[in-house]
Amino acid sequence: MTEQGNLAQIGVVGLAVMGSNLARNFARNGHTVAVYNRSTEKTRNFMANHGAEGDFIPSETITDFVASLEKPRRAIIMVQAGNATDAVIHQLADAMDDGDIIIDGGNALYTDTIRREQEIADRGLNFVGAGISGGEEGALNGPAIMPGGPEKTWEALGPLLESIAANVDGVPCVTHIGPDGAGHFVKMVHNGIEYADMQVIGEAYQLLRYGAGMTPAEIAEVFRTWNAGDLDSYLIDITAEVLAQVDAETGKPLIDLIVDSAGQKGTGRWTVKAALDLGIPVTGIGEAVFARALSGATNQRQATIGNLPSGTLTTLAELGVDRDTFIEDVRRALYASKLVAYAQGFDEITAGSADHNWNVDPRDLATIWRGGCIIRAKFLNRIVEAYNANPELPTLLLDPYFKAELAGLIDSWRRVVTLATQIGQPIPVFASSLSYYDSLRIDRLPAALIQGQRDYFGAHTYQRVDKPGTYHTLWSGNRTEIEA
Ligand code: ATR
Repeated sequence: MTEQGNLAQIGVVGLAVMGSNLARNFARNGHTVAVYNRSTEKTRNFMANHGAEGDFIPSETITDFVASLEKPRRAIIMVQAGNATDAVIHQLADAMDDGDIIIDGGNALYTDTIRREQEIADRGLNFVGAGISGGEEGALNGPAIMPGGPEKTWEALGPLLESIAANVDGVPCVTHIGPDGAGHFVKMVHNGIEYADMQVIGEAYQLLRYGAGMTPAEIAEVFRTWNAGDLDSYLIDITAEVLAQVDAETGKPLIDLIVDSAGQKGTGRWTVKAALDLGIPVTGIGEAVFARALSGATNQRQATIGNLPSGTLTTLAELGVDRDTFIEDVRRALYASKLVAYAQGFDEITAGSADHNWNVDPRDLATIWRGGCIIRAKFLNRIVEAYNANPELPTLLLDPYFKAELAGLIDSWRRVVTLATQIGQPIPVFASSLSYYDSLRIDRLPAALIQGQRDYFGAHTYQRVDKPGTYHTLWSGNRTEIEA
């Protein structure tokens, strides 16, 4: 138990990697931090290893933990998502009083957060679902934080979170995103964009490696150069590091020894599911999620590798493609596909926000994602500027800056998609993003034919371009048109 007067400003429940690092980050920034873990041993280990880094109040029971917090009590839960989170929320709520704040810092599904917020509000407490991005390193040294929940909690939480968040140009990478599930929704889409961003980098690597025949070390150098330009970002930076890594045991590039089957924890899949429900085409994120699933379809790939006809393939050398020109074309295809993925992600956030009446300001996200999180990138500043110039932008791609960029990228993008097809290398996000772009750009889509088919087999009716009204053709009769 704590002595009166020595209370913690913030508490952390769950002292696995993320929880420990977050607790240490709070303590390093001058806060007294209450810590609790279900297994006491973890709490003891934490105190033994990090107790000297700041002021911690360890507890062995939830009741003591809650008693060690100053009011309004603020406790961040960093436990396994799902049932564990629900269990801890209710243990805390049982011990807390009106006005106290429970924060879930895990990667919860936003619909769970909406439900939890309601349950906790019914008990007179506050619940904040907060997306936290940046991995282990971010949690310790400054993550990007996306808290949702009641606006009134920001007064008690804001300064605490601002003190531990990453900071870019004096601006902390945290802000109140919107009510109930808004924070976790936005974190989910952030992760979806991260999937697409990683996949387009992967496709560029694939083309340089297996199209242009470059070594991982050479490609690492290319990524280093790219990181000095428009693509400057954490993910491009770590890509160069991964590609330059040599395996100590074999002396081979590490990348060649890593099994090419990508894992996923589910946030990308959630982003696509939510987008399907909202009717928002997040094709880049969708292809990225499917690409991971395909890479992991081990049995199927064992049966198909080298066992399906390729058709007539050619090589870049046979086509007389200059290597340096190709590298620059690939950079531009990557950049253009990345723009599409971000534009789609922001479309999903806008649609989700409208659907739930969250009032999320897209500029807030582009601002707080500039630091701490995995998709941190210089170009997010441009997104802030785009929405500053026109808050009602129908798509980011129409912003004058991005439009001008696309004008300089499009020819390279088309060339890369064509060449990749000719040499038989898969580029699902490059190609689908280009199709998405062309679909937005052209004036007639084959949807007219689909409407015709739907009317033919199901009398689903159609509208005409030349006059108002809804029509049906008597396909199985005399094929005259009637007004429906
Ligand atoms: P990480 O990915 O950071 O390693 P995680 O797997 O998401 O962590 O969550 C692990 C944490 O959730 C641990 O603190 C674990 O407590 P124990 O050390 O006692 O296992 C906690 N946790 C899991 N289930 C829990 C439950 N039902 N009640 C309380 N805490 C739980």
